[in-house]
Amino acid sequence: MAQDNIEEIKSKIDVVDLIQEYIQVKPAGTNNFKANCPFHNEKTPSFMISRDKQIWHCFGCGEGGDIYGFVQKMEGMEFPEALRMLAKKAGVELQYQDPAVNNQKTRLMDVCKEAANFYHKILVDHPKAEFVKKYLIDRQVKDETIEEWKLGYSPDAWDTLNTYLVKKGYKEDDIFQAGLTIKKDRGVGYNDRFRNRLMFPISDTQGNIIGFGGRWLGKEEKIAKYINSPQTLVYNKSYVVFGLDKARQEIKQKKVAVVVEGYMDCLSSHQAGVINVVASSGTALTSEQVKMLKRFSNNIAFAFDQDVAGDAAAKRGIEVAWQEDMNTKVIQLPDAKDPDDLIKKDVSAWTRAIENAQSVMEYYFDSTLNKYDETKVEDKKEIAKVLLPVISKLVDPIEQTHYLQKLAGILNVEENILRDKLLQILNKDTASQKKQKSDPEIAKPEIKNRFINLAENVIGMIINKPELLEEYVDVLLPEFMPNEQLKKLYKSMIIYYTEKHNFDYNEFIKVNLANDQKLATYANILSLKASNLFGEMEDEEIQKELKTGTKDLKKNLIHLELKEIELKLQKFEQSGDSVAANEYSQKFSELANELKHLE
Ligand code: CTP
Ligand code: MN
Repeated sequence: MAQDNIEEIKSKIDVVDLIQEYIQVKPAGTNNFKANCPFHNEKTPSFMISRDKQIWHCFGCGEGGDIYGFVQKMEGMEFPEALRMLAKKAGVELQYQDPAVNNQKTRLMDVCKEAANFYHKILVDHPKAEFVKKYLIDRQVKDETIEEWKLGYSPDAWDTLNTYLVKKGYKEDDIFQAGLTIKKDRGVGYNDRFRNRLMFPISDTQGNIIGFGGRWLGKEEKIAKYINSPQTLVYNKSYVVFGLDKARQEIKQKKVAVVVEGYMDCLSSHQAGVINVVASSGTALTSEQVKMLKRFSNNIAFAFDQDVAGDAAAKRGIEVAWQEDMNTKVIQLPDAKDPDDLIKKDVSAWTRAIENAQSVMEYYFDSTLNKYDETKVEDKKEIAKVLLPVISKLVDPIEQTHYLQKLAGILNVEENILRDKLLQILNKDTASQKKQKSDPEIAKPEIKNRFINLAENVIGMIINKPELLEEYVDVLLPEFMPNEQLKKLYKSMIIYYTEKHNFDYNEFIKVNLANDQKLATYANILSLKASNLFGEMEDEEIQKELKTGTKDLKKNLIHLELKEIELKLQKFEQSGDSVAANEYSQKFSELANELKHLE
């Protein structure tokens, strides 16, 4: 049963250990941990993890959950994929017929994996693939690399892949939905999408194969050099970063992601032992791709082909990386057309090029000045036209002035003239920004009413120090709680305590809240919140907090009751019902008195 699997995996993977693989966490009290939330920007940690309760919760953005929820959010996965990933990690065999595991997404990934095996076997074993092997040898691709990247060859035939997969038991529709076949123009049936091509499997960050790039090896010019998988349920071109599954660890360690253009550049670098390298697959990076990289490092360095297209792609990539707040650099390739070329010539030149990556501004200056002659008036104008908008994007005023002065020096014009132009650009930018609709704000947790917060803290403190119940059971009453959920939770706690004369939180959750998972989770969060706020306090201080908390909650209740009575009183006075009016006015003064005693 899936439920058993889910629980078994949960018991084998500790939530703190798991989260630690992604972000830095610090201990905060016994068995609790703190971190900067990976799901929103923050400088002081409000992301808490509890080892006892095996949950995490961010008190800044309101996100929270268990190991599955974390992986889903962090890896952008749905539950079945998260389950599969964690099962693998825990060494738990999953029941595949279960719909929780076997959804369309996972089926398509299975199809892609089988297809990759098929293409790979053909490349390695089939006599008709000899010419592809020879091509790879010519390009100095080693056998280990062919294995590691599972390179393959799609045969020069109409439907060998489809036939093979159907024989293996895969559904034709799944094969089609995975992007591996195309519907025949006329009649029924499918043809293979990739034919007579060198196949590069494309994986997600977990290493699941989700699509392919196929390179044409013939001389014909009319045929596309590459065809790639179409958009499918598992392959979304703007989200995938080629090679990231293999590079992620090293990107984290080296603290920079090197982005190249081609599949071959990426393979070649990995083969040479420079592993913090991924490929953008020929297009400029999308903001989603940059966000994927940002999970592993805040630094990005572009090593694009030394041609016009590469230059344009690098510039667009820089814009996107800036928008995502990444530190961005550009790698120059001395005397080489692309990274593959440089690596073949001299691996150490490649590593040096990475180390000597230029700042974006240096890169813009160099590449622009290479294009124009700064002594000619017309060219001066062009140079300013290119560089001023870039300078305008710098946030730091010292840096901005530095480059403005540099440009003024090169063009031999007054700095003030350039500064005026810069201001014009800035004004235009803000005007157009105002016109654009602002992004919907990241969902913020609702700002809670003071008394809900207070009640949450009080209950959390009691959960963490249940011995306090003895004293509070008679003074802190469920009706003091400002909403139904809190009332229900506290009432259950009181009932449990009255029956057992002690409070075993784990048993309480398992038995008394067995039918209300939501309330159980809420209780866990309150406990975590209280240890975050009061974990380091002395008992005495906690007592004081509880005492004033209880009093304030009671006062709040009385205030609310007074308001209600006042309304009724007005009604009865207006309608002339003096008996009722008298009764309510009596009640009012009694309560008002009680309130006075509390203040
Ligand atoms: N690309 C593509 N479709 C094309 C051409 C290119 O998707 N028609 C993508 C591929 O991901 C390719 C990258 O753009 O890897 C870079 O293109 P290119 O430099 O032409 O190819 P390389 O992979 O570098 O191939 P090679 O070194 O064999 O020329
Ligand atoms: Mn290339």
